[in-house]
Amino acid sequence: MHASRELSAPSAPAPWQRTALGANLLALDGGLGVTIFEEMTSLAARTGAINLGQGFPDEDGPQEILDAARDAIAAGANQYAPGKGTPQLREAVAGHQERFYGLTPDPATEVIITTGATEAIAASLLAFTGPGDEVLTFEPFYDSYGAVIGLSGATHVTAPLLAPDFMPDMAALEAAFSERTRVVLLNNPHNPTGAVFPRDVLQKIVDLARRYGSLIVTDEVYEHLTFGVRHIPAASLPGAAERTLTISSAGKTFSVTGWKIGWLTGPEDLVAAVRTVKQFLTYSSGTPFQPAIAAGLALPDSFYEGVAGTLERKRDILSDGLRAAGFGVYAPQGTYFVNVDTAPLGITDSVDLARRLPELVGVAAIPVPVFCHPEGAERTRSLLRFAFCKKADVLEEAASRLATLSSRL
Ligand SMILES: Cc1ncc(COP(=O)(O)O)c(C=O)c1O
Repeated sequence: MHASRELSAPSAPAPWQRTALGANLLALDGGLGVTIFEEMTSLAARTGAINLGQGFPDEDGPQEILDAARDAIAAGANQYAPGKGTPQLREAVAGHQERFYGLTPDPATEVIITTGATEAIAASLLAFTGPGDEVLTFEPFYDSYGAVIGLSGATHVTAPLLAPDFMPDMAALEAAFSERTRVVLLNNPHNPTGAVFPRDVLQKIVDLARRYGSLIVTDEVYEHLTFGVRHIPAASLPGAAERTLTISSAGKTFSVTGWKIGWLTGPEDLVAAVRTVKQFLTYSSGTPFQPAIAAGLALPDSFYEGVAGTLERKRDILSDGLRAAGFGVYAPQGTYFVNVDTAPLGITDSVDLARRLPELVGVAAIPVPVFCHPEGAERTRSLLRFAFCKKADVLEEAASRLATLSSRL
């Protein structure tokens, strides 16, 4: 009786809000019940604004990949795939790691296919972390990290990436490590900042992970989307391989974000633990997409160069427009996001601007503070993130709309 009265008291938080995950989600959505991504996407739809908020391409990927998925469906590849992925795709992933990075995971035991990178991240954290552990990420951080760390019951510790180049402050990074750092969850190239970490930064992270006995889980979904710099996988550095799980995904490279095909590679014992968790999350991942992505991974180098080159031109179109509009622009070296400082326009609160921007000029963007805990949100208060994975004419139209911003403020 007493217990039920307590549960139904109007001021009591809902049961899910009392969990670590609930608390983290509340921090992400400001307690409103929808994330800023949903809020901005529906605001863009309502106002007819160009949506440069959520990061998904507005064009299909290569025809041969789309055809391969259709052919697979027609040929009956419509029931559960093997839990760890089809042999053909696991071999293609291993072949890709060797071709681009000289890494040689065994496709039988050191590769699994997941339901997007998102599942690989979740399964890795659930496999290796729990209450009492710390998971270290950079800040700002991709939104699923905070939620999944909460789900695992571990504590989320962050080290800042600072403008203008968003490289880690090494002293702060070192100070963020502790004996309880179970996992360093890296993201390189980095969303939302567009930073691509050079070898010396990565080596320092690997050395710290070794010193503290931490695993490295590295999310490299933007590995092929870099501009003038080469992506270096953390697993390729001295001392890293035996403690590193590398995650990537087809969504960004092949413009098929809706297919949710990802993969994870690493040492056999670590991969086996992740696979055990994956078994009870989704069991297996989209069967007809697996031969299609295997075909994609086998595309020639010219395809990969073309993806990066096209995106670099799009980055430049949008960046020029943002600069002309009066923003301070932080040119990204990778991903398909560009961050701007709104302060030169006299704006100090990017969350407020993001909510007004669709009405003001017909463009939607995401405020960077939503990728942070409160202290980091304060530090990034005037930053806004725009996605440039859209057709060139859409970006040109967005640029011309943004050019009118200063006169409307
Ligand atoms: C850094 C990062 N990791 C993971 C994902 C999700 O990848 P997937 O769609 O393959 O689950 C995204 C998508 O935006 C991302 O930006």
